[in-house]
Amino acid sequence: MKRFLWHAAITLALLGVGALVFITAGFAPISAAAGHWPVTRELLHFAMERGVSTRSLGIEAPALDEPWLARKGAGHYAAACMPCHGAPGVAQPLVPRRMTPKPPFLPRTLAAGEMSREELFWVVKHGIKYTAMPAWTSERRDDEVWAMVAFLERLPELSPSEYRWLAFGGTDAGPGDCAGCHGERGEGNAAYPRIAGLDAAYLAATLDAFASGRRQSGIMQPVAAALGEGERQRLASHFAALDATAPVADAEVDAGSVERGRRLAFQGAGMRRIPACVECHGPDRSERNRMYPDIAGQHPDYLALQLRLFARGGRGGTRYAHLMERAAAGLEPGEIRDLAAYYASLPPGS
Ligand code: HEC
Ligand code: HEC
Ligand code: HEC
Repeated sequence: MKRFLWHAAITLALLGVGALVFITAGFAPISAAAGHWPVTRELLHFAMERGVSTRSLGIEAPALDEPWLARKGAGHYAAACMPCHGAPGVAQPLVPRRMTPKPPFLPRTLAAGEMSREELFWVVKHGIKYTAMPAWTSERRDDEVWAMVAFLERLPELSPSEYRWLAFGGTDAGPGDCAGCHGERGEGNAAYPRIAGLDAAYLAATLDAFASGRRQSGIMQPVAAALGEGERQRLASHFAALDATAPVADAEVDAGSVERGRRLAFQGAGMRRIPACVECHGPDRSERNRMYPDIAGQHPDYLALQLRLFARGGRGGTRYAHLMERAAAGLEPGEIRDLAAYYASLPPGS
């Protein structure tokens, strides 16, 4: 028995040395052009599937039925994922077809429905090591990753024109263009904020914050980081000069909620250190710091989302963002809905 163990140990050591010599001499197969042997491909894919399945245990999907979630995923998909995975009516580009492993053409492979919501979430958030599949740019925006999952679930059934509508909102914009997401005149919609008519100083500082990662968003960070500083300045002046029209309301306004929000915005809640929002955001304040954004007439879903991010902490932003994190820290979910409903009900610029 002892002798057998000795032999086994020596054989293993020799194999190890052999592998080291093989790799050091540069013989390890690394050509992407050669692809994998079928057995390697199956083994790696099996390892990936098992890894994703195990690691996505314990993740619980939120409700994903808001229709604008898929829209939000689609704009980013067109800019960041389509170049590897293709899209309805858009053939997979040539370069990723030469990758090993090859990125799947998702509109077809997802149709099999083999990946659960939780598994899709895990893959999109973390990416897959040893493949080109990247992780989500921001580690703090699970809400955005879920928006992408909402889109991926609809992807297999989308016609090319439905896909184009979701990704570019009926504009002629190309992938990553401001207009495709924020609207032709920057007017915004349920998925994306209005940027027309905001102060140029706030817009420029916000684009800088996205570019440097001081404001977290896996969708806006790559867009802003791809622009030079001069371009960010120019875009800020451009959108600041456009007329601020409120995005088309798509939800019924609850008058009671608006009234409760109005009261809280004017009075705050001193006992819980919630300040009066009007001190910084108006309405009815003539002098305002240019870095305190105009939130009147912004879409209620966007306002509520931002308030939740501030309340949780870590939303980031310009060098004034800490003021807002303090202001939102004590807000209850119901109060967030009321405040969002109130400010959304005001005309922009009030
Ligand atoms: C640079 C190329 C590249 C980009 C960009 C990319 N992916 Fe991937 N993706 C891959 C590769 C390669 C795989 C396959 C990994 C494997 O087979 O193990 C993959 C796998 C996936 C899978 C698992 C599919 C399956 O059937 O196993 C999903 C889902 C996915 N990607 C979604 C996305 C999304 C969403 C984006 C954009 C945020 C994205 N990918 C961006 C290369 C890319
Ligand atoms: C793929 C979609 C997409 C594209 C393209 C895009 N944006 Fe955005 N943008 C978003 C999303 C989503 C947000 C909200 C981010 C968040 O949740 O914090 C946002 C937020 C912003 C904000 C912050 C608004 C505020 O009230 O704080 C500005 C400013 C902005 N975008 C400017 C631009 C400009 C300028 C361009 C073109 C260079 C652009 N965006 C392109 C999706 C996009
Ligand atoms: C002391 C001043 C101050 C007070 C008080 C304040 N805010 Fe803010 N708020 C800011 C600043 C500054 C920002 C911009 C943060 C950044 O992105 O740098 C902001 C951002 C926001 C945003 C995000 C806007 C966007 O376009 O992304 C919302 C929503 C908001 N505030 C709502 C409120 C509400 C509701 C209240 C009352 C509970 C409130 N704020 C109280 C200063 C304030």
